[in-house]
Amino acid sequence: MLVSAKEMLQKAKAGKYAVGQFNINNLEWTKAILLTAQELNSPVILGVSEGAGKYMCGYKTVVGMVNGMIEELGITVPVALHLDHGSYEACYKCIDAGFSSVMFDGSHYPIDENVAKTTELVKVCNEKGLSLEAEVGSIGGEEDGVIGAGECADPDECKMIADLGVTMLAAGIGNIHGKYPANWKGLSFETLDAVQQKTGDMPLVLHGGTGIPEDMIKKAISLGVAKINVNTECQLAFAAATRTYVEAGKDLQGKGFDPRKLLAPGFDAIKATVKEKMELFGSVNKA
Ligand code: 13P
Repeated sequence: MLVSAKEMLQKAKAGKYAVGQFNINNLEWTKAILLTAQELNSPVILGVSEGAGKYMCGYKTVVGMVNGMIEELGITVPVALHLDHGSYEACYKCIDAGFSSVMFDGSHYPIDENVAKTTELVKVCNEKGLSLEAEVGSIGGEEDGVIGAGECADPDECKMIADLGVTMLAAGIGNIHGKYPANWKGLSFETLDAVQQKTGDMPLVLHGGTGIPEDMIKKAISLGVAKINVNTECQLAFAAATRTYVEAGKDLQGKGFDPRKLLAPGFDAIKATVKEKMELFGSVNKA
């Protein structure tokens, strides 16, 4: 059964570790992440962007697939199914479809409008038992065609949004989605520290987990980050493993063209990536 991310994230914040949000794209992705979480006895959050939701034939299809897998694979660790960077409309669609968690990304609205829309969603999510993530200060990089510059959030605005009763808060601290450019200045721990001081127990979310050096991840966790989002790294691992398989001509040998064989190296690569992250984030055996 899907659960809200509230309890797992409050435990993570108190225990000074982070739960990974791994974005899913299809059946292989979902199965790889769920099995790894179960093997490592770790809580997990499956992230679905609006684009990935559309690709997988809509939110209801995603809910059906994930619930089916949890049952058929015997997954007993806590799993939250979470809308990633949702618009106001997409949040309602996911709530109706059976997601257990949503992110309302109102970071591009003026703060008053972000507050008004978040307030309304807090009420709906509380009534239905879903967790709600809000965002202040846009996360840079490209996500579904939207490019942000990687700003640092205003800690007072973070407090304003946190006080509305959201479950977890994503604050921009110079992080971006996708690969980091060579001239990236690193995370702003000064901003993170200020945000955590204003927001207290609120679990903070670090987007753009791909390519952040391990020492920065650990420092971010020590400063209140309790959820870390990873997407691109699984995609890169999947693509590299698939490339190796095809370049070695394995799809041309015997039944190597069978999708169950062709996609197996990529599947294993996602599992290895998720394992590495769960170990780094400290969520192993925290289910
Ligand atoms: P990456 O693709 O950089 O790992 O970011 C994922 C993310 O933050 C999803 O919201």
